[in-house]
Amino acid sequence: MTDNKALILRQPDDWHVHLRDGEALADTVAATARQFARAIVMPNLKPPVTTAALGRSYRDRITAAIPPGTDFTPLMTLYLTDHQDPAELDPTVFTAAKLYPAHATTNSAAGVTAIAHIRPMLDTLQRLDLPLLVHGEVTDHDVDIFDREAVFIERTLKQLVNDYPALRIVFEHITTRDAVAFVEACGPNVAATITPHHLALNRNAMFDGGIRPHAYCLPVAKREVHRQALLAAATSGSPKFFLGTDSAPHEVSTKESACGCAGIYNAPVALESYAASFEAMGALDRLEGFASEHGPRFYRLPLNEGRVRLDRTAFTVPDRQTVGQGKVVPFMANEVLNWSFSGPIPPQN
Ligand code: DOR
Ligand code: ZN
Repeated sequence: MTDNKALILRQPDDWHVHLRDGEALADTVAATARQFARAIVMPNLKPPVTTAALGRSYRDRITAAIPPGTDFTPLMTLYLTDHQDPAELDPTVFTAAKLYPAHATTNSAAGVTAIAHIRPMLDTLQRLDLPLLVHGEVTDHDVDIFDREAVFIERTLKQLVNDYPALRIVFEHITTRDAVAFVEACGPNVAATITPHHLALNRNAMFDGGIRPHAYCLPVAKREVHRQALLAAATSGSPKFFLGTDSAPHEVSTKESACGCAGIYNAPVALESYAASFEAMGALDRLEGFASEHGPRFYRLPLNEGRVRLDRTAFTVPDRQTVGQGKVVPFMANEVLNWSFSGPIPPQN
């Protein structure tokens, strides 16, 4: 339901988030569980979540960090490596498996160097009907960083989709019109997540009057024409596109550095920033499908029954958030957002 003043949505889920570990968990889990009922939790810890035992214990740590009285379910992912026993793909632990091309992003050094190495894992995923989640970028240094997603489609993803016609694949955090077109052309087994920052920023944001480390993430934001393609896809109503924040906190000093980390911490303002982008497209009525329906249908999970409310109350995003012992600059710091998240609403009779 939307009117001018309130936006009531079926309780959304986040289909891609980095909750980190240790002292960060209390804050990251609270921020995500405040807005989302479930989240697909990325496995790029140090060390990465490469076994069922590591997945189980990470899930226990997350569960222990859920604020009392909050209904939140972490959905775990297995980090694929070149040499792995398919028995680690325990469906009682994992909802999906994540393909990081080696060295593509944060903590991906143990990732996959060639698809040939993970054939047994892909066969097992297809047989168990578990989705494969893909960080879709090549890592070749001769490929321009702004082309890495488009080249990945040509060199890797097309073949993968052909070789595993029954495998459900999520092309994560897409950033290009090439990715939108590819996903649209595939069958219903291929979908994509879209982040709030890739809907809001083009690549100029990284160089706006000087170098802007808090706008740096991977895949990097692209040209405006690509942002427009992402906005069109997210607001199209197509069930192939759904919400995945890629919220990825890094302590302020590791971002504001000579070699700053990639990642944008958007969990504290996730729904508010998606709402701003959808409203700018005149498509607030499409937000619920994107945020709360397309993801669970693709993952073959029930839709959430609860509802949440956003109110048209402007607020200024704080310039710092506490995450564990450190401070993080959140997405849209110091900017004004027009919708405020007001929380769950009581069940309607
Ligand atoms: O910007 C990013 N940050 N992209 C990723 O793929 C990983 C993430 C992180 O873990 O920090
Ligand atoms: Zn991510």
